[in-house]
Amino acid sequence: MSKYIIRGGEPLSGEVSVQGAKNSVLPILAATVITSGKSIVHNCPNIKDVEITIEILKCLGCKVERQKNTIIVDATNITNYYIPQSLMNKMRSSVIFMGAILARLNIAKCSYPGGCELGARPINLHLKSFRHLGVKIKETHGYITCELSKYKPGKINLDFPSVGATENIMLVSSLQKGRTTIVNAAREPEIVDLQDFLNSMGAKISGGGSSTIEIEGVESLSPVERNVIPDRIMAATMMFMIAATKGELTLKNVNVSHLDSVISVLGECGANILTENNKIHIKCPERLKAIDIVQTMPYPGFPTDAQSQLIAALCTMKGTAIVKETIFENRFNTAVELTKMGADITLNDRVAVIKGVKSLHGANVKAPDLRGGAALVIAALGAEGDSEIDNIYFIDRGYENFDGTIRSIGGNIKKA
Ligand code: EPZ
Repeated sequence: MSKYIIRGGEPLSGEVSVQGAKNSVLPILAATVITSGKSIVHNCPNIKDVEITIEILKCLGCKVERQKNTIIVDATNITNYYIPQSLMNKMRSSVIFMGAILARLNIAKCSYPGGCELGARPINLHLKSFRHLGVKIKETHGYITCELSKYKPGKINLDFPSVGATENIMLVSSLQKGRTTIVNAAREPEIVDLQDFLNSMGAKISGGGSSTIEIEGVESLSPVERNVIPDRIMAATMMFMIAATKGELTLKNVNVSHLDSVISVLGECGANILTENNKIHIKCPERLKAIDIVQTMPYPGFPTDAQSQLIAALCTMKGTAIVKETIFENRFNTAVELTKMGADITLNDRVAVIKGVKSLHGANVKAPDLRGGAALVIAALGAEGDSEIDNIYFIDRGYENFDGTIRSIGGNIKKA
């Protein structure tokens, strides 16, 4: 298993172009299955989760070609409606393929996605919504089979603004006669990107980005060529890296409006941030100032996917801060590893109290999950001395050329 070896203590500085959004490219590639023909998706990040998504597309019968950051999907001959356990186990978010396969074939089957490092990750909201729309669901021996004989358009009230459930409803209802309304829909930018992709295929969807999404089913959709939006969480990760190393960075190809909550928190902590069109310039010369409390919330609140990176940057702030995780039940795994580097963090259920220390020291730590791994890299780059970070396959799932990007702005990191 490869690991990172990092020598910390140097301020990072330079310019980085933000990769395409992992959490946008996955549902968009699933959407290409809905129609026959060749769709072309640009700005796809070169990450493990996209590789797994391509495996799923091929398993369904698609022909897939990758040209650097462009993926061409020919979904003319879909020969299979089943996602095997081997692929579901590699990436639980493959469940969003169910809506797309149902829209194309009126039948879909996958194994139960199960939980992950962040928690149980149930899909009850997905299944409850499907049932409400007339989908017959059989759950036997860990498999879910969905069959759609008579679609029942109508209103779906989501108990929680689930990103995946919102995406699955949009995918299945895009090709079903009648009007489907999602109330309490997720508002993430990735939902808007999926809406725009589907509409460019000929769908009639409105309200993406708000809590109410309307889908008017159409007879058919056509293949399309489009770009994926920039990855706001990769951008946030780099910003917290600059905060932890007291450095300076220009982020290019970023959608500034997707980062309002992150910019606001870092600004409150004393970071100097300038924004223009599709660029963010951040400078963090001193230790961060303490911030009272940050709680993760559904978009446009502070993103849960940047919570570990925030905590890593707060470890050496002046003062004390509280971070509350409201989305996932088990997303403080990184805190244990950060304390090995000298951080002072007290956990109590979904609340972390961070007392800033002057500096962290290097240590041997293990990435507990994707964003926690990135957070440990941030802490190690800001720490005095050498660190080793194990289990970096988690990081490869969501960050393209992470160590190469860090070296390009002066970070002393290598993969061993
Ligand atoms: C998406 O996951 C993202 N993944 C996650 O990013 C992100 O953290 C999450 O949205 C929240 O923003 C992708 O887009 C591939 P949810 P998703 O359904 O769709 C509960 C990363 O690091 N819930 O909004 O699975 C669930 O347990 C990843 O890039 C139910 O209870 O998130 C969780 O507590 C991690 N029942 C909360 O809702 C359901 O049926 C949010 O889940 C569905 C969800």
